[in-house]
Amino acid sequence: MQVLIGFESMFGNTHRIADAIASGFGPEHDVTVTPITDIPPDLVDVDVLVVGAPTHAHTLPRRESRRSAVRSAHTRYKDHQLEPTAERAGVREWLAEVPPGCSVQVAAYDTRFRAPGWLVGHPATRVSRALARRGATVISRPQSFYVDKHEQLHAGEVERAQRWGAELCRHAVTSTNTRHRDLRP
Ligand SMILES: Cc1cc2nc3c(=O)[nH]c(=O)nc-3n(C[C@H](O)[C@H](O)[C@H](O)COP(=O)(O)O)c2cc1C
Repeated sequence: MQVLIGFESMFGNTHRIADAIASGFGPEHDVTVTPITDIPPDLVDVDVLVVGAPTHAHTLPRRESRRSAVRSAHTRYKDHQLEPTAERAGVREWLAEVPPGCSVQVAAYDTRFRAPGWLVGHPATRVSRALARRGATVISRPQSFYVDKHEQLHAGEVERAQRWGAELCRHAVTSTNTRHRDLRP
């Protein structure tokens, strides 16, 4: 299968989760992990698209919240490495450009603090719904991977992401095979 994992990330956590999901798919699939804005919004020529974003102010990052993240990387978190794409546009802007008629299988995740979604935000839900409205087939409930108060992933989250990747893979292989069988003349 052709799999694209598009992420937005300031401090690297959402990127690390993307890499872990990719490893869950295994080497027999063609998996690319890339900043979301490197994926043309009208590209639907893949079997699976996974989209990941950090949570900022209860929702998807905006330009101002990205700036605030960059400032805190320089002040509050001297040891945080900023992602090279941290100040670029991200999932919010990319999503706004996705045209209707998207026929790909999708799944979305976010990274956030470990607290109820209604309290701290769970933007993967929004991404998942928006892609479904454009015609995509959602193959998993939106997931969250958790960071601590220093905005570092909790122990075990990378492994959990890997397991989720493997689960997505099993699900997508089954439905891709079914779709190909249904399309046979
Ligand atoms: C400006 C800003 C606002 C944030 N707001 C929230 C929030 O509302 N809820 C939450 O759970 N986490 C919040 N966080 C923490 C982020 O979830 C955390 O930085 C992110 O998951 C780290 O991902 P990254 O390393 O890929 O940037 C915020 C972080 C920043 C920098």
